[in-house]
Amino acid sequence: FNKIGIIGAMAEEIELLHKHVDVASQTTKAGITYYEGMLHGKSVIFCKSGVGKVNAAVCTQILLDSGVDCVLFTGVAGAVDPQLNIGDIVISTSCMQHDMDCSPLGFARGTIPFHARSEFAADERLIELAAAASNRLFSGNSLKGKVLSGDQFIASRETVRLLHETMQGACAEMEGASVAQVCDMNQIPFVVIRSMSDKADGSAHVNFADFTVTASNHSYQIIDEMVKHM
Ligand code: ADE
Repeated sequence: FNKIGIIGAMAEEIELLHKHVDVASQTTKAGITYYEGMLHGKSVIFCKSGVGKVNAAVCTQILLDSGVDCVLFTGVAGAVDPQLNIGDIVISTSCMQHDMDCSPLGFARGTIPFHARSEFAADERLIELAAAASNRLFSGNSLKGKVLSGDQFIASRETVRLLHETMQGACAEMEGASVAQVCDMNQIPFVVIRSMSDKADGSAHVNFADFTVTASNHSYQIIDEMVKHM
């Protein structure tokens, strides 16, 4: 990989990139600033997309147009797989939009009508780089799984059960599948790395406030360790 794109949605999620990347230039487009520089001797561009699928889609296309040849997403998520605890890591095997729902027309939940595919597979090499980094840093507290995205903060056990049982999700967040779809449309490899800030249940809003910084830092550490080996 010659130029690595790195996206986070919120300030907390990219704060450590500001600290560690030696930034040479920056450009702003559609209200999003892209910082270009070096991390562990690798050329990177990182940015804060803003929250939600539209922000993430616009951000990803602009990032791809700037010439990156892979995309890493770093951030926090709500745990959906009951094995996961706050602080644990999910590495995307694939991403899907849980709020895409044309079921009255006979499409399964998550299916994008008339689109080539609805579940976007992450890149095998990036998955393995992330898993190796995660094993070195947080032995045992990570899993590979399906990342579900939607324009909703999930805070109910019933929804968590639905997302786990009917869509086989590992975690829920608000950008990954949008980044994944734009990467797929441009044939650019990606992986989403998420650390759990909450369990997407009745305590999610409190846990999210308490653990977003810690979880964001876990996710960043994996990116940092991955980039060393890319
Ligand atoms: N990001 C972190 N926690 C989340 C949740 N519970 N729902 C959606 N996105 C999240």
